[in-house]
Amino acid sequence: MVWAYRKYLVTSALPYINGVKHLGNLIGSMLPADVFARYLRQQGEQVLFICGTDEHGTPAELAAQEAGMPVEAYCQQMYELQKRIYEGFRLSFDYFGRTSSPSNHRLTTEIFKDLFANGFIEEKFINQYYSPADGRFLPDRYVEGTCPHCGYTKARGDQCDGCGTLLNPEELIKPYSAISKSHDLALQKTLHFFLNMPKLEPEIADWVCQQHQWSDVVKGIAKKWLKEGLQSRCITRDLKWGIQVPMDWIRAQDCRMLPGSGSVGTSLSEKVFYVWFDAPNGYISITQDWAESIGKPDAWEAWWLPQDEKDVYYVEFMAKDNVPFHSIFWPSILIGTRKPYKKVDDIKGFHWLTYDKGKFSTSQKRGIFTDTALDLYPSDYWRYYLLANCPESSDADFTFESFAALINKDLADILGNFANRTLALLKKYFDSVLPMDFFSIPHDKALEDRCRVLAGEISTHLSQRRFRAATASLRSLWVLGNEYITEKEPWHVLKTDLEAGGQTLVHCVHLLRMFAVASFPFIPDTAQKIVELLEDDRTDLAQTALADAVTFQHFRKGHHLREEGRLFEKIPDERVAELTALFGGTSEA
Ligand code: 2FM
Ligand code: ZN
Repeated sequence: MVWAYRKYLVTSALPYINGVKHLGNLIGSMLPADVFARYLRQQGEQVLFICGTDEHGTPAELAAQEAGMPVEAYCQQMYELQKRIYEGFRLSFDYFGRTSSPSNHRLTTEIFKDLFANGFIEEKFINQYYSPADGRFLPDRYVEGTCPHCGYTKARGDQCDGCGTLLNPEELIKPYSAISKSHDLALQKTLHFFLNMPKLEPEIADWVCQQHQWSDVVKGIAKKWLKEGLQSRCITRDLKWGIQVPMDWIRAQDCRMLPGSGSVGTSLSEKVFYVWFDAPNGYISITQDWAESIGKPDAWEAWWLPQDEKDVYYVEFMAKDNVPFHSIFWPSILIGTRKPYKKVDDIKGFHWLTYDKGKFSTSQKRGIFTDTALDLYPSDYWRYYLLANCPESSDADFTFESFAALINKDLADILGNFANRTLALLKKYFDSVLPMDFFSIPHDKALEDRCRVLAGEISTHLSQRRFRAATASLRSLWVLGNEYITEKEPWHVLKTDLEAGGQTLVHCVHLLRMFAVASFPFIPDTAQKIVELLEDDRTDLAQTALADAVTFQHFRKGHHLREEGRLFEKIPDERVAELTALFGGTSEA
């Protein structure tokens, strides 16, 4: 039972540093994680929400090269830019850190040493492409070529963007260097460290079997990996940028600890850890940076080395391609340290958001990117659209047409219009002053009951991390308000009966406050704006539980409200056509 846990650790997959992220990245981990963290805080739970940039590996080096910048400067600039954009989307991270931080260098080195000392590291020679034109080895994305599975001609050495298959560079047909484009590549022997996954397999398989919270999809992905049999995984790369393998330390160890080639790192001068070996450790090291930032350097331990594993409930959010790394690879690493690091309780994996039936692609700059999105519309428009279309059980498709339709209908016509009508009538008939106390008038019991049911639905969906369903229930709550005001017709009633019309408006004002509380995890700026329209300075939306907002006792007779307030602007058809043309919805994959 989830509620037995005393605090919640929430992490979102760490976005790569190699460019501004697109809307698919946002809804595929960071945004739902934010909604969940906000909801828990409203419930009074203790929450730590961690994210940051994933800064190592070939994607970072290649992007820096393309930008004509030294990789460190590039990462600094992109970190600041991404951080600013996520602030714009109101992602409420407790700390947004970086995997290139000194703390991650320290922690990753320590984790490697623990694995080594516990006999889980091997040394092997592997064949890797060497490019004489570039004077270097070409790991992962440094090699491009034709995908052996789908024939896509720009497949990368680690993954094919055409069909999504994970690849090794040697599998590519007609390989060439991504730097010089040279086809003159030769496979050469190079020495690397491997994590002995087969040795960890019984423990990890056992651990996966105990994870009853995981969805069938997530469990299916993990079990597929286990069924195929775990292979030793190379955890080092021939790159400059990254966390250096501690060669001097290794050479000083007892070599019997290092099964394999017996060379003990003879050619290991310029090697760093594989990006997937250091990135997940970032969740822990970023928490260490958070602890430093609040002046309590040991505070991270209560989250990652809790006295009792059950003191913390840990949820990870990510796109489905990240699931194997979080369900098998990283837990294996943590188990292999023989330290009681907190491991994940639930993995929330997302499908893909497509862009006009094609793929969003960072490398091909196809789709709507988060910086552009914020230039076009307020963050709540995007948050609402993405959550309502969250790719939870299958892929979802973005088009400007569906975006405009949803904003115009749900936000402008339903929520916005309800707020507008309520404030306009209060102004017209009562000079924007609440005409009576709620407890002195007949309550609409049926309305309150229906609100309570819908509020319960929203809470249940959010606590179970069902974002699409939660957003649908939120919308139903707004619809309820609209139906109520439409049925009561205060605009007619007020002409002849101020008492009856006033009673309806008192209900509407309380409904609006409840909408603000309910909407806060989803569209926090709008929720705050509603509270401001209501001149309600006693409600801290971040800490008000929805169940408490369903009782309509908050405002007293004589309370002053804003005279009017427009929450949303509609998006006209001509603009939809313009945007569709501007951002090219060509369906090329
Ligand atoms: O897929 C990605 O964007 C990766 N950068 C996610 C890393 S998650 C974590 F392990 F760091
Ligand atoms: Zn392919």
